[in-house]
Amino acid sequence: MKMVKIRTRVNGKDIRSEVEPRELLVHFLRENLGLTGVHVGCDTSNCGACTVLIDGKAVKSCTMLAVQADGREVTTIEGISKNDELHPLQKAFLEKHGLQCGYCTSGMILTSYWLLKNNKNPTEEEIRKNLSGNLCRCTGYQSIIESVKYGAQLMKEKEKEEQQIEVR
Ligand code: FES
Ligand code: FES
Repeated sequence: MKMVKIRTRVNGKDIRSEVEPRELLVHFLRENLGLTGVHVGCDTSNCGACTVLIDGKAVKSCTMLAVQADGREVTTIEGISKNDELHPLQKAFLEKHGLQCGYCTSGMILTSYWLLKNNKNPTEEEIRKNLSGNLCRCTGYQSIIESVKYGAQLMKEKEKEEQQIEVR
């Protein structure tokens, strides 16, 4: 099969690759780039375990071909922490027990990350609606919702801290 050249920026790094035209983005990220925090739960766009950010927007990566990521910026769960420090949303999921097996967790976090970047003070209803395309078979959803609420609080605190550092 004829390979196609693509250029993407993944977690802040420029990547040049050759892919089969039929290769799904989720498989490209996991198998070609080793980003195994992107999970395959269903391959049929139902579970949300494969969610990544494409140009900042949450997208199920099993619904996209790798060639469609050409020229785009992709962020996976591996890309949201800084200098080995967990992102506030990751901390919140840990502290509020928003996961058990963890299979759905990267998708839950990235879908919520997208919401909180666009809406710092979401209502519980907005959080639930935003996660309606993400399935978890372990926790029940209450602890996930609590984690996102707490994550919103931690993200605001972190932002304030960073602004204070800039002013000093
Ligand atoms: S693997 Fe993509 S939505 Fe389930
Ligand atoms: S924590 Fe196991 S599927 Fe959600």
